[in-house]
Amino acid sequence: MAMRQYRRIHLLFRLALVSVMALGASRVILDNLRNNLLWPGSVEISTRHRYTVKMPIDVSEEEAIEDGCNVFEGEWVWDNASHPLYREESCPFLVKQTTCLRNGRPDSFYQNWRWQPNACNLPRFGQTRSELEFRLHSNANDEFEMWIGRFDGLKLMEILRDKSDVRRSLQRIPPRKVFKVEEFNATIEYYWAPFIVESISDHATNHTVLKRLVRLDSVAKHSEEWQTADVLIFESYVWWMYKPTINATYGKLDNIQEYNVTTAYKLALETWANWIESSINPQTQKIFFTTMSPTHLWSWEWKPGTDGNCFNETQPIDGSYWGTGSNLDIMRIVEDVLGELKVKVTLLNITQLSEFRKDGHTSVFGERKGKLLTKEQRNDPKNYADCIHWCLPGVPDTWNEILYALLLQDYRVQ
Ligand SMILES: *[C@@H]1O[C@H](CO)[C@@H](O)[C@H](O)[C@H]1NC(C)=O
Ligand SMILES: *[C@@H]1O[C@H](CO)[C@@H](O)[C@H](O)[C@H]1NC(C)=O
Ligand SMILES: *[C@@H]1O[C@H](CO)[C@@H](O)[C@H](O)[C@H]1NC(C)=O
Ligand SMILES: *[C@@H]1O[C@H](CO)[C@@H](O)[C@H](O)[C@H]1NC(C)=O
Ligand SMILES: *[C@@H]1O[C@H](CO)[C@@H](O)[C@H](O)[C@H]1NC(C)=O
Ligand SMILES: *[C@@H]1O[C@H](CO)[C@@H](O)[C@H](O)[C@H]1NC(C)=O
Ligand SMILES: *[C@@H]1O[C@H](CO)[C@@H](O)[C@H](O)[C@H]1NC(C)=O
Repeated sequence: MAMRQYRRIHLLFRLALVSVMALGASRVILDNLRNNLLWPGSVEISTRHRYTVKMPIDVSEEEAIEDGCNVFEGEWVWDNASHPLYREESCPFLVKQTTCLRNGRPDSFYQNWRWQPNACNLPRFGQTRSELEFRLHSNANDEFEMWIGRFDGLKLMEILRDKSDVRRSLQRIPPRKVFKVEEFNATIEYYWAPFIVESISDHATNHTVLKRLVRLDSVAKHSEEWQTADVLIFESYVWWMYKPTINATYGKLDNIQEYNVTTAYKLALETWANWIESSINPQTQKIFFTTMSPTHLWSWEWKPGTDGNCFNETQPIDGSYWGTGSNLDIMRIVEDVLGELKVKVTLLNITQLSEFRKDGHTSVFGERKGKLLTKEQRNDPKNYADCIHWCLPGVPDTWNEILYALLLQDYRVQ
């Protein structure tokens, strides 16, 4: 390889292992976690990932995004030379729900789009010399799963390909799932906490949709687990949006009330924010909050006069678009609460860029209740298309690329 000028970036914790915890997403990467998924209706999973970043990291000029570049503003460009970044079949960590091609999807254009920020380029994910080893915890929806598949997966896969004797282990300790590669002290953990605060949906596999009840004033049960992480990534949205109101308590546990979802969400996020302020050390811990992953449930929103959903969509939306599934009140609450925090929390503002991707969902080429759709179900996209989850390779990889870019930027030393 030609000599390149690398900038030594470092790290808050030079030569130390930094554990990073990501709250946000995923049942994933660990092949058969199928059992924890799916109930009728919408599906999502929350988990937490803990990373270990091994320093130092070398970041080349072209890997570093420029300060001040808003990576969330840009456009999708057709780039079938560089995308997809990996193939379904080369990524053993992908769960069946996301492997749309293998599941019968006839078009693959959705794999060929690259997110191009207006003001800078994203570092090419997985192509750096960076000595990053990740250990993740995560708590979020399904999508982040992919991120692990890529982020961690890429690195881990390389490792595993080279060393078939690498010791791996998977432990299920609900609500966590812990995946370790011992030689690298690398761990992936999932932490299920769909409302961030406590709720009766906190059991990793036995949770209820219909009788959900949220405890708006307490995050203690979960936060104990998050406390020690160096990086935390949070996400919480879809579970709130089942109905316009939600049953919750604030204070006395026997005082259950129906709250407007926006009111409840704000209270919950404030509870979380109080914990962040009282417990996070901004010198040593990094916090991210991921905005909502958009859905494409109603085709009349982007193609007036039609009556479908994301099924059969093969192209991104061109021009401005914001679907009604992405609740602006919730978005504003997130921005307000984050804005008032004394601790810096970086917003992973991925909603708009994902809104354009009506073509990226699993549609009828995914699973329901842990099983691939039958032929009959596939022929009934009105009832069976999944316009919430995403195919992989696909849109969630971009979220990972952005996270990766921001982490690299943060760990860089000028
Ligand atoms: C890439 O896209 C261009 C433009 O659509 C097309 O002409 C070309 O055949 C594609 N290449 C591959 C390898 O798919
Ligand atoms: C993993 O962690 C153990 C205990 O903290 C430490 O002794 C060991 O050197 C670490 N291994 C690597 C590869 O960092
Ligand atoms: C699931 O949870 C409910 C309520 O908490 C409980 O009654 C039921 O026994 C649990 N089911 C299983 C299979 O654990
Ligand atoms: C709240 O709980 C009550 C009593 O169980 C129930 O009737 C009502 O439908 C619930 N509301 C929501 C929004 O789930
Ligand atoms: C609930 O939300 C709706 C819509 O935002 C609002 O009009 C209404 O006043 C709210 N109700 C309460 C009790 O906050
Ligand atoms: C899906 O798209 C194909 C090709 O454009 C078209 O022939 C078919 O009628 C569409 N199916 C539905 C259900 O819209
Ligand atoms: C997040 O993105 C949306 C849509 O692009 C934008 O309106 C909003 O201002 C952004 N929020 C922040 C805090 O940058």
